[in-house]
Amino acid sequence: MNDSAKRPPFGSVLTSHMAVAAYADGKWGAFDLKPVAPISLSPAAHVLHYASTCFEGFKAFRQPDDRIKIFRMDMHIRRMQQSARQLILPEPETEQLAAMVRAVINRCQDEVPKAPGALYLRPLLFGTMANIGAASIPSSSASLIVLASPVWDYFAGGMKPLRIVVDDQNTRCAAHLGVVKTGGNYAAAMAPTRDAKAKYQADQVLFCPGGEVQETGASNVLLIREGEILTRGLDLTFLHGVTRDSLLILAAENGYQVTQRVFNVADMLAWVKKGEAALSGTAAILAGVGTLIHRGVEHKVGSGDVGPLTRALRTRLVEIHQGLAPDRHGWLQDT
Ligand code: COI
Repeated sequence: MNDSAKRPPFGSVLTSHMAVAAYADGKWGAFDLKPVAPISLSPAAHVLHYASTCFEGFKAFRQPDDRIKIFRMDMHIRRMQQSARQLILPEPETEQLAAMVRAVINRCQDEVPKAPGALYLRPLLFGTMANIGAASIPSSSASLIVLASPVWDYFAGGMKPLRIVVDDQNTRCAAHLGVVKTGGNYAAAMAPTRDAKAKYQADQVLFCPGGEVQETGASNVLLIREGEILTRGLDLTFLHGVTRDSLLILAAENGYQVTQRVFNVADMLAWVKKGEAALSGTAAILAGVGTLIHRGVEHKVGSGDVGPLTRALRTRLVEIHQGLAPDRHGWLQDT
């Protein structure tokens, strides 16, 4: 897709090819690279009834010399294996999944946009065993599919300050499933997010069960001020973002003191009187929050615009993605 074409909404366009592998009789079969097309699935498939599914999301970037590099694929594969273990799905093998991702990228090279676009990679794993009685029995068969999508901004409108509803009633997911990238967690956020959009024109809901700040439907949250970042410490209640990890490493290298601990809504509202708040994730990268809406009251975050520290931190990461700054950590992997 050339860059002058209209940019499609995030994830709405797939590349021409996908990679597909099946697990049966206790082992993974070889994968096929094939044109993207509907798949056939028993209506009794485990995933359709008992939500045995997890996925990943990461990006490949076209570099100034036109080579394509994948950002921290190794960490995403490990996270998918962890999700699979928690859902008792067969774990994708590291080498095979990496080969599937590379095969899709190489086959669809011409569909990888130039910066600021990227190729979003979406491995998807799901239970295919046909047995509607298997409510507490893991699926003995599974499919692994790698899709890819040329993407630009996740939030329509680019770097506009986000409006976030702070929800201290609902929880995003079952407490032990927060670390698992599974569709059910996103489904649970869907109705509160729709309501927040309708009532407050909000972009996302930040779930804070019992007053403890957790994460939004699709991103981690960072509080930022001069020389200091506060974010929740890694526990089972939220997804351990690879972008979060990368930003915290870059921030520490740039003199920030990074604190990872539980904090509550009152701490956050006090912080944003002068400080900044931002959402991090593969899709969002680092998106500045302009307004927090808590129990119907609007709290401006700093000036109400995307803060300068948020912009600077985002730029540091984006420059590494795009090959404009040295990749000191070896985060960009070959295709
Ligand atoms: C991510 O940012 O990590 C994602 O996978 C976003 C996706 C849920 C749209």
